[in-house]
Amino acid sequence: MEVNEAALLRKPRGLLEVEQVETWLPGAGEVVVRNEAIAFNPIEAKIQRWEMFDIEYPAVLGYTFGGTIHSVGPGVDSFKSGDRVAVARWGRAASDIRFGAFQKYPLALEENLVKLNAHTPLHEGCGVMANLATVVAALSICMNLGYPPVNARANRNGKRILIYGGSSSVGGLAVQYAVDAGYEVLTTSSPSNWSLVQRRGASCIIDHTRPKEEILESIKEHGPYDGIFDAIGSSEVTLLLGEFFLASNGGTFWSTSPTPVDKDLPKNVRKQWASYSDVLVEEGANKEAKMWYLHEYLPESLSSGRVFSNPSDIVTGGLGSVQNVLDSFMDGKISGKKVFVNPQEH
Ligand SMILES: NC(=O)c1ccc[n+]([C@@H]2O[C@H](COP(=O)([O-])OP(=O)(O)OC[C@H]3O[C@@H](n4cnc5c(N)ncnc54)[C@H](OP(=O)(O)O)[C@@H]3O)[C@@H](O)[C@H]2O)c1
Repeated sequence: MEVNEAALLRKPRGLLEVEQVETWLPGAGEVVVRNEAIAFNPIEAKIQRWEMFDIEYPAVLGYTFGGTIHSVGPGVDSFKSGDRVAVARWGRAASDIRFGAFQKYPLALEENLVKLNAHTPLHEGCGVMANLATVVAALSICMNLGYPPVNARANRNGKRILIYGGSSSVGGLAVQYAVDAGYEVLTTSSPSNWSLVQRRGASCIIDHTRPKEEILESIKEHGPYDGIFDAIGSSEVTLLLGEFFLASNGGTFWSTSPTPVDKDLPKNVRKQWASYSDVLVEEGANKEAKMWYLHEYLPESLSSGRVFSNPSDIVTGGLGSVQNVLDSFMDGKISGKKVFVNPQEH
């Protein structure tokens, strides 16, 4: 078995250090993956810098990755060595160092794998898997919007929604998902990501780099909305949507993240959020939606290429470059792209 290495976080707010770690053996229902693509998410940087969640140290961060199955544990019958897979670190894997994406040979739970055909790039698979689960849970489960057909677009249903932040990874997938489900979708983006967001099918893109008053005016002008989803989850966007609702006698919006200013929202404005992947994959009441997502919608949409992630930015330097990528998130340097590192590189 090859030597395993990880970018370890030894203490809260520490820097990542690349070290040799144990070579894990797969237990029942587990596989070892030769990790060839870490797909980064902003939450990993927030956990490192802000201690956003309570975790044990040393930690191996990283929620999504893709690669080739190296070995399988007892009872694994739907995957075999050599299969190309995308992995999300859901359920008991989320808090177990052996399953973290920032290592060369992580474990993965069989139930957290999606098999990719020979034509689907690893980056598409692991770049989309968890973010699209977030979208399904946020829009169809939490906000009660309809589900899209697989690999098709539903007829327009006469309803209009606002997705704030259509150039983010989650926002882009949310725009496309809602458009396919039959909604008219308005979204926001900086002008530099306009063409990317246009490909998602939004009916109108508002420039969110303009002064706040102009953004509010545009949002108002294109409303009213049957639902609002904030795909950015920043304090700035929370306050802006708070102002929008205040001017329209209150209401509810769903967001991707809590912020320190949530407590300052006007009393008649309700911001809701959830750890959306958990809603989809952990809550028994949503089992049917989980099965549809993992066994039908996701694999078929990836296979046809209908669902696509933001353009890949593949950073060289292997595990030694992971800290730099996390720093880029905190410095606000990730715009209209999904970042990957191949941990097998040196
Ligand atoms: N609750 C959950 O279950 C869950 C799951 C996944 C992600 N999240 C959260 O969702 C958020 C988005 O994640 P992601 O992976 O999609 O992020 P991402 O792809 O890294 O988002 C980057 C984009 O955010 C946009 N952006 C940044 N600041 C903005 C602002 N003030 N107004 C409008 N747009 C802004 C930028 O758009 P421009 O460059 O075009 O300006 C940039 O393209 C993060 O807060 C993440 O932690 C939550």
